Amino acid sequence: MDVKIRTFEEPDRAAVVQIWHDCGLVYPQNDPDRDIDRKIADGVELFLVALVDDRITGSAMGGYEGHRAWVNYLAVAPQWQGMGIARALMNELEQRCHRIGCPKINLQIRMTNTHVMEFYRRIGFVEDEVRCMGKRLVDDAAQ
Ligand SMILES: CC(C)(COP(=O)(O)OP(=O)(O)OC[C@H]1O[C@@H](n2cnc3c(N)ncnc32)[C@H](O)[C@@H]1OP(=O)(O)O)[C@@H](O)C(=O)NCCC(=O)NCCS
Repeated sequence: MDVKIRTFEEPDRAAVVQIWHDCGLVYPQNDPDRDIDRKIADGVELFLVALVDDRITGSAMGGYEGHRAWVNYLAVAPQWQGMGIARALMNELEQRCHRIGCPKINLQIRMTNTHVMEFYRRIGFVEDEVRCMGKRLVDDAAQ
């Protein structure tokens, strides 16, 4: 299978959002279109999509804030899972991060989704001794 990884482009939007829904990544507090709009405003260099025969099959939304890179919305369409597509997405993200001088990638896993930890271990991630906290500044669902 020939998997191509490239930077997100606007025509990919509907397929990417559909994959996020199909993968259960869209929660009531998320507005995926607004998340994509914000990402486009910030820069899409680390926002990747996977294609098989020109069909969008997965995504990884990375970002670098000058100290750590983060990855959100890593998703592979259910019918394409188990074929190495997420590994290819993360490999490309790691290479792009390395090229811009980023020393480490962090990510968050919802407590309801901890079974994906084995996937991340398989591609070389380890569990950090940290507790994660957050503060929401906007309520997308209400806007
Ligand atoms: C997690 C996810 C992105 C993995 O995508 P994928 O394309 O199926 O993963 P790959 O085929 O590249 O798998 C790479 C390796 O991880 C393993 N792996 C993948 N998912 C796994 C899982 N849930 N549990 C254990 N191992 C897993 C594969 O067997 C493979 O192992 P190997 O190469 O050593 O044989 C995909 O299952 C998904 O989209 N899940 C729903 C969305 C989600 O939870 N995203 C993560 C948010 S934190």
